[in-house]
Amino acid sequence: SLNLVEQSKRSAAFAAVDKHVGPSVRVLGIGSGSTVVYAAERLVELKLQNKLNPELLCVPTSFQSKLLIIEAGLRASDLDDLPELDPGSGSYASIDVTIDGADEVDAELNAIKGGGGAHLREKLVANASKKLVLIADYRKNSEVLGEKWDKGVPVEVSPLAWSTIKRQLERLGPKSRAQTAVLPAAESVAAAFEFSHPVVVLRQAVRKAGPVVTDNGNFILDVSLGKIHDPLAVEQLLKMVPGVIEVGLFCNMAAEAWFGNEDGSIACRV
Ligand code: A5P
Repeated sequence: SLNLVEQSKRSAAFAAVDKHVGPSVRVLGIGSGSTVVYAAERLVELKLQNKLNPELLCVPTSFQSKLLIIEAGLRASDLDDLPELDPGSGSYASIDVTIDGADEVDAELNAIKGGGGAHLREKLVANASKKLVLIADYRKNSEVLGEKWDKGVPVEVSPLAWSTIKRQLERLGPKSRAQTAVLPAAESVAAAFEFSHPVVVLRQAVRKAGPVVTDNGNFILDVSLGKIHDPLAVEQLLKMVPGVIEVGLFCNMAAEAWFGNEDGSIACRV
């Protein structure tokens, strides 16, 4: 039997899949992490009940996600192998809906992602989707980002300059004189996050000496900022640093978030 956290991940995943994945869905984005495993479990059930589109293509967001798709007996496709879904509609989307986990989701549906180091491909897939649906347990349901997730914002960086990037990120802040001309004024930085300066850690691998290397061959810096009052400003600030490949802040991207509550009920935030 599952513990409370796993049970809440599972009920959120099942509810989101049931709501969003029917026969009309042609292309489905599959996120990464432990919560998405339950979404795949539900997809297998729906497939056996002939409730999925027989032509369904699934787009992975990581190595783990691709294996999940294959093990579920579904068909995997690469993002850039897909044509646009609705030519002439003005939309460039190639994916109907993407279901993904998150590390923390705020009241406005902004999210921190990348706890599993997959946020580059997750963001590329989310950006190519008509709809992004997040699934999570109750520990990740928060008012303000940084309130519950205390491991920092995951930032994928080029190994060529990780140490320079780390130093530059550590110097961002209102008291900093070291900001380059391309970065915004100190006052707007001061209002964006709680800490006077970010605390930056190179993510280390487990059971291997040295840094985590992402599916894309890059490193991850975990950037702690305290409470993030202005997620979009922080995303933009971090992304302007040369060598930053992708920031694990997903602002104004998700359409819905499903949470399994501690009491067994399910909450959907739109
Ligand atoms: C992967 O890099 C992350 O963005 C995941 O989506 C996120 O960490 C959620 O993972 P869990 O479902 O395992 O918490």
